Amino acid sequence: MRKYHVGILGCGVISRTYVSDIQTFYPALHIVSCADTRAEAAANLAEAFHIPRVCTPEELLEDEDVDIVVNLTPPQMHVPLNRKILQAGRHLFCEKPFAPTLQEAEELLKLAEEKGVMAACAPDTFLASGLQSVRYYLDTGLIGKPFFVTANMTSFGPETWHPAPEAFYRRGAGPVFDMGPYYLSALTALLGPIESISAIGTSASPSRHIYVGPEAGGEIVPEVNTHVSALLKMQSGIPVSLNISFDIYRSHLPMFEIYGDGGTLAYPDPNFGGGTPQVYRKEQYTDTVYQHTPEAEERRRAFRDLPELFTRHRDYSRGIGVLDLASAIENKRQPRCGGDFLLHVTEALEGLMTASENGKAVTMRTSCARPLPLTPGSAIDQV
Ligand SMILES: NC(=O)c1ccc[n+]([C@@H]2O[C@H](COP(=O)([O-])OP(=O)(O)OC[C@H]3O[C@@H](n4cnc5c(N)ncnc54)[C@H](O)[C@@H]3O)[C@@H](O)[C@H]2O)c1
Repeated sequence: MRKYHVGILGCGVISRTYVSDIQTFYPALHIVSCADTRAEAAANLAEAFHIPRVCTPEELLEDEDVDIVVNLTPPQMHVPLNRKILQAGRHLFCEKPFAPTLQEAEELLKLAEEKGVMAACAPDTFLASGLQSVRYYLDTGLIGKPFFVTANMTSFGPETWHPAPEAFYRRGAGPVFDMGPYYLSALTALLGPIESISAIGTSASPSRHIYVGPEAGGEIVPEVNTHVSALLKMQSGIPVSLNISFDIYRSHLPMFEIYGDGGTLAYPDPNFGGGTPQVYRKEQYTDTVYQHTPEAEERRRAFRDLPELFTRHRDYSRGIGVLDLASAIENKRQPRCGGDFLLHVTEALEGLMTASENGKAVTMRTSCARPLPLTPGSAIDQV
């Protein structure tokens, strides 16, 4: 595979994770330039990571030497900037969410097609070691036939650590668009498409105190619900109980568990690429009927760690989706984080938002195949 030149648009908090991970783990990608409306943010990123060129956003899009633009701007900027990137004839990898509505996502993918370029979107965590291992174990029947899933993104919002938390509470963001993509992508990548969504939205408090950054001491009045509880039905018939929150300080709810007729498969957090899957199998439970031994009793009590079958880069890593996009361009195939999968996840996010705001169940219009799995032990461009 040839080297693909990458330009970073938006040099804020997450850009450092992208640049560091791409430079460390994916030699097929070469970061050649970075740009931000805040020139000093671009200059600081370039200096910290030895990025050859610093430029304005306009210059970045016009740069013929850039193959892929990675859009790391705030969510509300994604649609207009994605449009400009595609119009400029650059391949696009966008941070989540790609667009707040299915219609806008469809328009963007149509534009990409017209321009002969490809578009893909985060999250790419479902391509990393942890969730690919979960998929392998699920598909090989380790827990039998799945019949129920619970997914709980129980967290407190970003105002205790992010220097610019206000954008997280505006329309187009909030817990649904900020954290929902990890969970809806993981669900769809593991269990296939979603059929319908019902949800209830609420907020623990009408305003949010800002603890850090230039606006510390101020208050944010969210434009969206900061807690959403939902019930999804997958096309396979499996019900999913989903909670996504910026209102919970700590919880004992499992972040991600799949229940089958032969056991339970647990994963620590779909927001993380690295994470040890765990299993509890039927036999651990039933053996004590036949064996009254301390060993059998001990086995009955606990989940067991499962080996990760892929290379774990960092627990919290980003950039594997950009590599997959480059591989897709090279091999003229659909990127795993793009196409019908991206449209379906976007529609599910919009549906979750709509259902949680007006209380009516949403029936999904789109469908998709599960993105191709990775082969254990192999780099993306070899599969
Ligand atoms: N912060 C995280 O931990 C995290 C994790 C995963 C994904 N994300 C996603 O990454 C994206 C960026 O988040 P962040 O936390 O890095 O935000 P941030 O506010 O720290 O950085 C965004 C940057 O984009 C720049 N920008 C704004 N408008 C621009 C424009 N028109 N052209 C060029 N640059 C522009 C801003 O000046 C800023 O430097 C969001 O979509 C977010 O959901 C963030």
